[in-house]
Amino acid sequence: MKLIASKSIFSKQELKNKIDQIKKTESLTTLFALLNITYIAPYTFHDVLNQFKSFDYISSQVVLEHMSPKVLNELFQFTKKSINRGQFCVHTINFIDHFANPGLFQDKSISEFNFLRYSDSTWKYWAENTIAYTNRLSYPYYLELCEKHKLKIINFIGENYRKRNELNSKLIHKDILKKYSPTIAIEDLTRYQRGTLIISKV
Ligand SMILES: C[S@@+](CC[C@H](N)C(=O)[O-])C[C@H]1O[C@@H](n2cnc3c(N)ncnc32)[C@H](O)[C@@H]1O
Repeated sequence: MKLIASKSIFSKQELKNKIDQIKKTESLTTLFALLNITYIAPYTFHDVLNQFKSFDYISSQVVLEHMSPKVLNELFQFTKKSINRGQFCVHTINFIDHFANPGLFQDKSISEFNFLRYSDSTWKYWAENTIAYTNRLSYPYYLELCEKHKLKIINFIGENYRKRNELNSKLIHKDILKKYSPTIAIEDLTRYQRGTLIISKV
């Protein structure tokens, strides 16, 4: 709390009061009213635009890797249309195979980029489902989307946040390479495990 307060416009006591207020709410409806949140689920971008015409800030935390290329394209199109000029979007995106993540389904023997070895049809048959969908895309894809929609890349901060278990790039399936422009450097697909993309409309 002390650390958060040191970086916040609120004092430690004000933050504590806010958290106490949140703890006292008894339903999602009262919580959203207290925090001024409009929660739309399930949603389409059209539904969002029906509520608000423009935005000063759009952010996500390890969500974009769960969106299909089609929905990602819609999101970047929506961003271009609805983010106010000079304002920012911050997306933290995870690029690794979620079967390497700690938890019930973790396979400790695989590289964190293991999912790049498979064709689209094999991956779809064995691993794709609507509950735990991952798009198997790495950061150049998102940079290309920014270029396509003429959004300015303010920064991309790539990270390797866990011990690396390298995947031989020769094992990357051609179906994966086809998702990128032909000039892509194959090593870029396994360069970062996670990254934060900061974009803006100029
Ligand atoms: C790994 S969780 C991250 C949740 C949260 N942001 C966090 O950091 O703890 C991924 C989230 O992405 C959401 N998600 C999946 N597809 C989505 C989509 N098309 N649009 C918005 N959210 C989506 C899921 O509902 C899930 O809550």
